[in-house]
Amino acid sequence: MSNFEEKVSHILCIDPNAMTLKLLSSVLGKQGYLVSTEECGKKALLKLKETTDIDLIIMASNLQQTSGYKVAKTLKESEYANIPIIFLMSDHKEENIKSAYDSGGVDYILKPFNKVELLARVVTQLKLHFYKNSEQNEIQKELIHVLSTLSSIHDKETADHVMRVAEYTGLLARLVGYDDKRVEMIQNAAEMHDIGKVTTPDYVLKKPDKHTDEERKVMHKHAQSGYDILKHSKLPLFQVAAIMAHQHHEYYDGSGYPQGLVGNEIHILGRMLGLVDVFDALSSTRVYKKAWDMNDVFSFFKARSGKQFDPSLVTLLIDNFGLFLDIRDKYESEH
Ligand SMILES: [Fe+2]
Ligand SMILES: [Fe+2]
Repeated sequence: MSNFEEKVSHILCIDPNAMTLKLLSSVLGKQGYLVSTEECGKKALLKLKETTDIDLIIMASNLQQTSGYKVAKTLKESEYANIPIIFLMSDHKEENIKSAYDSGGVDYILKPFNKVELLARVVTQLKLHFYKNSEQNEIQKELIHVLSTLSSIHDKETADHVMRVAEYTGLLARLVGYDDKRVEMIQNAAEMHDIGKVTTPDYVLKKPDKHTDEERKVMHKHAQSGYDILKHSKLPLFQVAAIMAHQHHEYYDGSGYPQGLVGNEIHILGRMLGLVDVFDALSSTRVYKKAWDMNDVFSFFKARSGKQFDPSLVTLLIDNFGLFLDIRDKYESEH
């Protein structure tokens, strides 16, 4: 969505006073905003974890057990760092205003608040956040495309593979229940899962025959290399991509690589990538093999459920097999 006017913004209000929360809900709700309320910082953090679409936080400077400034500092060091915070202040003291800005607040409003002033400040911050986010998303997407193109210059097969895997991952993310914003991010990040292959020598990467044990070890290094390439980025999309690159060859029973993680120790994104990566490997033609018969692919996933793959994800794949095949067929018809 590129138009701010079409967006329904979601505002999280945090205040220990139930009356203030009621008033905020009513004033903001009447303007068409989606409003969530919490009475303390702890609950607000939980809310942020389960709701991925908060656009703005309005928070009292004094909360029950802690100060709003402390909560703001925690948020600014977390994955929610880019959500703007407006403080609701009870006084105009210079030291408090300084604390509000120092802790990461972008603005403040004095209590009892004036409705017109509240709405004007809210819309200003929402607009700034929206356009900053849109710009950041575009930059991240461009960067990802540049990097995947660069990494696939010598290897057309990997290029096709990553594009299909990205689409399968987007589909699986939707089936898992992620909202549109997350699905888009996960799908874009999945394009980078094999970025570590830039460090794999051609004689291994393009070998048409089976790999020797030694070559397999060289090949396996791409998971760690991919993580090392991406891990220092502060961009959310790249942080997601780093997890995928690192964990997409872990097995549910712990026999995968590079860390040998078991079950839910493997991040859900790693488990998702692990599944669709193999689905693509089996269902498409490679230099060293033909595509498998779909009945065999189907049986393979059933047999490897709980061993290589997360059983709940296998169920989603099997129950929606046709949707995955639609993506495969779309790519086959393009070549
Ligand atoms: Fe891989
Ligand atoms: Fe892959």
